Formats: sequence, C-alpha cells, structure tokens
Amino acid sequence: MSNEEKRVFSPGPDAKSRPTLEQAAYGDEAMQEVHAQLMREKEEPREGFSPVPVFFIFLFGALMFWGGIYIAKYSGGFRADVFDPAWAPQKAASAVAAFDPLKQGKKLYARTCQQCHQANGQGIPGVYPMLAQSPWVLTSDERLAHLLILGMSGPLKVLDHEYNGNMPPVGMWKDVDIAAVLTYIRQEWDNQAPAVSEETIKKARQDIGKRSTPWTPAELTNLYPF
Ligand code: HEC
Repeated sequence: MSNEEKRVFSPGPDAKSRPTLEQAAYGDEAMQEVHAQLMREKEEPREGFSPVPVFFIFLFGALMFWGGIYIAKYSGGFRADVFDPAWAPQKAASAVAAFDPLKQGKKLYARTCQQCHQANGQGIPGVYPMLAQSPWVLTSDERLAHLLILGMSGPLKVLDHEYNGNMPPVGMWKDVDIAAVLTYIRQEWDNQAPAVSEETIKKARQDIGKRSTPWTPAELTNLYPF
C-alpha cells in the first residue's frame, strides 16, 4: 500500500478536517474532494492498453515462418492425388492415354496442310489438288505413307484435274502424327476410308530406306497402282 492510500483511508491526524462521504453529499467542493479520493484509490486502467510483449511478436513471427516452410515442404503442390481422398489414378491415367488421332490430325492439318489443300479439302484449281474424294487419299494407305514421308512433285492428275507442283515432305514428323493427319483426311469432307496406323508409317520408312528425294506421281502409281 502506497503512502497516499494510507493517507486516504486511515484516519490520520488530519482525518477530522477531511469530509466523510456523508458530509460530501452536502457540498459540491466536498463531493469533488471525495471523488478525487475515490479516483486516487483506483489503479491506473492498464489492462486493455498494454502493448503486446515483444517476445510474442517474435514468437508469432517464428511460428509463421515455420508454417510457411512446412506448407512449402509438405503441401505436395496441392495436387489432387495428394489431397483428394476420392482421387482415382486410373481415371487420370486414361485421360492422358486417350489419344484421339482425328483431333490431333485436325490440328496438324490446320497448321500445315490447310494453306495449300484448303480447309474444305478442295485445294486450289490447277495449283493444289483436292483431298476430298481423291483416290490418292481413299485407296492405298501405303502409297499415302510414302507420299507424306518424302513428298511428291511432277505432273499429276486427280479426278480429271491436272497439277504439277511440289508437295513438301513431312518425314521429320513422328510416325503417330503422320498417321493421325492421314486418318483425318481419310475421314473428313465425307471421305470414308479406314484409319492409317502408326505401323504403316513405320514400315514405309523401312521400305524407303535411305532415299530422300521426293517421289514423282508416276513412281508412286507404279509402286501402288490404283
Ligand atoms: C505447299 C503446299 C502443300 C502443302 C503444305 C501440302 N501439300 Fe499436299 N500437295 C501439294 C501439291 C502441289 C500436290 C501435288 C503434287 C504434284 O503435282 O505432283 C499435293 C499432293 C497431295 C496429295 C495427293 C494428291 C491428292 O490430291 O490426293 C495428298 C494426299 C496430299 N497432298 C496430302 C497433304 C497433306 C496430308 C498435307 C499436310 C501434312 C499436305 N498435303 C501439305 C501441296 C501441298
């Protein structure tokens, strides 16, 4: 107990001169004096306003730092196969394996072939031959494979239209892509012919061996007659 409190509550030598609570009720000054006494008696209201101890700030900082490292290390990139209890590995695997040659072929056609043979497969009269209903597309798949791998140039007749241009080779493509684009042109524009397999492309490469010059239409027609 501080000296001041003692002074207020113990009846000291001058206790008589100080007003009691009842006396204070009779005069403003006395009342203020009593209130002052009561206020002094109270402690400074500290609780709600005391600053956060520095120690806690460091503790929280350290916790958050550790938490960040923990998440970075163990979150597994928040991938479905880490967190989703219903995740089915078979489903995800089949989505990857579901290669659609028509879709892939369409993409490759749009990117490479379309500029010459056109989106509707009609080509450009006298310059680029049509692929829609072309016997070159609908008959031998081996002839097609040979054509795509080395390209072709020379006089050509397709459905009574004559051409003499250069068909660029796509032999640097993967077998699966050549097969896909051929499967696509065989089934687009009302064309109806079986898909071309990767095997056919692979075998054609073996047949071709070291040759790198483009075919002439006559050569390919001799090898694979209509
Ligand atoms: C730079 C233009 C050009 C591009 C690109 C092109 N071709 Fe050709 N293509 C030709 C020409 C020109 C001929 C005819 C060659 C000749 O006269 O001997 C031809 C011929 C063909 C033929 C045989 C003739 C026919 O009409 O059926 C097929 C099939 C064919 N191309 C498919 C394709 C495919 C598939 C692609 C894409 C991978 C492609 N071409 C890309 C210009 C092109």
